[in-house]
Amino acid sequence: MFQFKGSDILHGSQFSRPDLECLMDVADDFRKRVEDHQVMDLLRGTVMAALFFEPSTRTRLSFETAMQRLGGSVVGFSSAESTSVAKGETLSDTIRTVDQYVDLIAMRHPAIGSAAEAAGVAQAPVINGGDGAGQHPTQAMLDLFTVRQELGKTDGITLALCGDLKNGRTVHSGVEIYKHFGIRLIFVAPEALMMPAEVTDRLRVQGVEFEETTDLEAAVRKADALYMTRIQKERFSDLAEYERLKGAFILTREMVESLNPRLVTLHPLPRVNEIATDVDSMAGAAYFRQARNGVFVRMALIALVMGKV
Ligand code: NCD
Repeated sequence: MFQFKGSDILHGSQFSRPDLECLMDVADDFRKRVEDHQVMDLLRGTVMAALFFEPSTRTRLSFETAMQRLGGSVVGFSSAESTSVAKGETLSDTIRTVDQYVDLIAMRHPAIGSAAEAAGVAQAPVINGGDGAGQHPTQAMLDLFTVRQELGKTDGITLALCGDLKNGRTVHSGVEIYKHFGIRLIFVAPEALMMPAEVTDRLRVQGVEFEETTDLEAAVRKADALYMTRIQKERFSDLAEYERLKGAFILTREMVESLNPRLVTLHPLPRVNEIATDVDSMAGAAYFRQARNGVFVRMALIALVMGKV
C-alpha cells in the first residue's frame, strides 16, 4: 500500500483502491467525531501553510477547517498579490521560504506542474490543491467519498462527467481514481471541450472503459450520478469561444424529474449556470453535502500524511 506518511499528494494516479478505501474509512470516522462535537488535538503543534496563488473558496477553507478541527494551525495567503511574488519572487524561492516555517504545505497555483515543482524543493509534504488545468487530487477523493455516501456503493455504478472536461482538473484526477472501482464512465462535453487525449490514451492503455457523447439527456437517463462542471473561463485565450460554449449543458429540474428522478447530482462548485437553482431542493442534489465532505476527507488526508493515523 502507498505510504501516505510524509508523501506529496500531487496526482490522482498515485493511489490504489486500498489507499482510497483507507482514506475514506478514516474520513468517515472523522465525520462521525465532528458530528458528535468531539474536540480533537491529533495535530496540536503542527502548522500547515495554505498557499493559494489562484482563487478558491472551498478548497482553501476546507483545508483550513480540517487542520483546525484536528487541533493544528494554519498560516498562508489567498492571493499572490499580497506576497513577494508581486516583487518578482519565483515559486521555488517562495516555497523554500515557507518550508522553513511549516510542517505541511497545501497549495493552488495556475501553472500545470507547479505542485510537483514545489514538492521538488520542499522538505515538508506538498498537497496539490489544483495546478492550473492539470490535477486536483483531493477534490477527486472527496468526490469519490460523496459517491460512496450518496449511493451506498461505488462498484458497478454509472457516473456521467459533464462540462469542461478539457480544462477541468477535478475530472482529470477523478478518472484516475474512479478506474479502481469498476465505475462505468460517460464523458459528456461539447466537441471543443472533450477529455484531453493524454487522459483518454492513459485510460485505454489501462483497459478502462468509457463512452464519449454530446448528448446530456441520454447520459442522464443512464447514470446513477451526474458530475457537472463549470466551463473554465480562466483557461480560455479567446473569450468569444467561452461565450459560445458557456451555455452548452444546463441541468434543469424538469430534465431530472422527467428523465431520472433518482439521479444523484454532484458538482465541485463553484456553479455558474450549469445547474439550475431549482434542482438544489431535490433529494439527489448532493453538491453542498459534497462540499461538507471536503473537510472530512482533507482531515483524513492531513492526518495520514502527518503519520497520525
Ligand atoms: C474546482 C477547481 O478549483 O478546480 N473547484 C473546487 O476546487 N471545488 C472546480 C472549478 O473551479 O470549476
